[in-house]
Amino acid sequence: MKKYDRITPEGTKDLMFQECEAQRKVIETLREGFEGKGYCEVITPGFEFYDVFSSNSMYFPQESIYKMIDDKGRILAMRPDSTIPIARLTSTKLKGHALPIRLYYAQRIYRQQPALRGKSSEIMQMGIELVGLSSFESDMEILTAGMEALSSCCVDDYRIELGHIGIYKLLMENLNATLEQKETIHSLIASKNYAGLSDILEAFPETHTVALLKELPRLFGGKEALDKARELFNGYDKKLLDMLSYLERILQGLVERDLDKVMIDFGLVHQAEYYSSLIFRGYISTAGESVLSGGRYDELFKDFGESLPATGFGINVDQLAISQLKRIDAAEKTGREAAREENKGPGSEKIDPEYNPIAEKGTTARSNIRIALTKGRLENDIVNLFESIGYDCSNLNQKGRKLLLSIPDKNIDVVLAKAADVITYVEHGVCDVGVVGKDTIMEGGGTFYEVLDLGFGKCKFALAVPEGTDFYNGYSTKRIATKYPKVAGYYFESKGMDVQVIKIEGSVELAPLLSLADGIVDIVETGSTLKANGLKVLEEIRNISARLIVNEASMKLKKTEIDKLISDIQEKMKG
Ligand code: PRP
Repeated sequence: MKKYDRITPEGTKDLMFQECEAQRKVIETLREGFEGKGYCEVITPGFEFYDVFSSNSMYFPQESIYKMIDDKGRILAMRPDSTIPIARLTSTKLKGHALPIRLYYAQRIYRQQPALRGKSSEIMQMGIELVGLSSFESDMEILTAGMEALSSCCVDDYRIELGHIGIYKLLMENLNATLEQKETIHSLIASKNYAGLSDILEAFPETHTVALLKELPRLFGGKEALDKARELFNGYDKKLLDMLSYLERILQGLVERDLDKVMIDFGLVHQAEYYSSLIFRGYISTAGESVLSGGRYDELFKDFGESLPATGFGINVDQLAISQLKRIDAAEKTGREAAREENKGPGSEKIDPEYNPIAEKGTTARSNIRIALTKGRLENDIVNLFESIGYDCSNLNQKGRKLLLSIPDKNIDVVLAKAADVITYVEHGVCDVGVVGKDTIMEGGGTFYEVLDLGFGKCKFALAVPEGTDFYNGYSTKRIATKYPKVAGYYFESKGMDVQVIKIEGSVELAPLLSLADGIVDIVETGSTLKANGLKVLEEIRNISARLIVNEASMKLKKTEIDKLISDIQEKMKG
């Protein structure tokens, strides 16, 4: 009997009517822009040999690639990206072609996403690649094209952030760290986890390299970030200052062309294997993630036996189309409101049939800051913190069953949510900021900045077992009950120990009492629950506390307000 014949797989969706129209309009607008600049279209196959994507460097985690096997037993991959197939095509079909080569594409990419996170596994992407030039002018050409692409789709509230991956790479070369430490440092910089980064770098001698790495994710903003970087980089390898000067030159060039929606982020280190120098990302207010991503990738062609400099970017067409649809919704709403005011009756609710969202300027963005707070365990501490920085928490203190509250006079909304949902709301950008425990972050993961350790909600992850038992004795595979299966899984994986993890939703201490498990991995605060149930801590796994997390796009688009919130909290914490 067929079970799955009426639905589409998770991460995919049917597009209908208005959605198709919005996507088509974005594609047509971008196509016109790219062709006008002399870029020619190429289309690469939807699936290729897996080897194309796994050449010398592993640019994409293999878990994220959809794979198939052909009739000769070879592994095929649904393309997770368009730049790599275009590098393959250029190195073969266009080998020896006069340089530079200007190519553009409009095609879908496929990336397996974690389950139930509301992320698309199939994305319509457009982008350009400029192959064979390595100059200031070529970087400017690509950046200008990216910014014009966003503004041509009427996203007048976009931001581009610029970085230089060479700076991070040089510092990491000079740090005597293991591969594992380097991977951790990379992810801490990428997530602006200042506290975690400081902690791991404590283990290294106090060198100029370490001091710069600690500062890297904090160095973002306008010209002041460049000035601060110059001060800090002074006296270090001249190459670092040269890279900084290059960024300054690019910024200056963009400003001269009236393209001033740019900021610098020295903590921009995404896809460090892939890019070689200038990197950038673009944000719009209707999407919680970056909608444009690009940079210079002078090393990539080596994987295909060529030595060609190249630069380019890809744009998430789906997100731009969604932004257009939101614009239509907002315009319809405004039309309805105007009609009501003028008392014209229902006929006037319709928007102008000639209305073209692409040609219409304006924004549908929220102007306020929305903060998601964890209900329960952390709630009192958070309210106390907000009261201490002068927020009027009267609504929070008399919330009743309300979940969406405001802080009067501060243009701040507060959402009260379950811990794991705080992450989801912030990751999707429907909330700008969140307060959540490190335990939930470790279990849930996600893409956001983790900017502050708030110092409250302190507890520990621990492995606990019944008093009087010898957990490590015997050959049988041990059973572990936990609310945190990922944390427990990673912990035992790091010990090279096979265990069977059983997910329990709460009151985990019951599982060993009922002989369902040999031990538990759980958070321990006072230890009284363990004691009352005849359990003891066998090993402490790590300390936990509450964290302030920030959506990546909000951090760039609402920098002033979010910086103010962070500095207010930091001031209080110092006091
Ligand atoms: C947490 C945790 C332990 C207990 C530890 O549970 O899972 O059961 O608190 O605190 P203690 O060391 O101070 O005794 P929580 O209260 O969140 O309830 P739950 O297990 O039902 O989710």
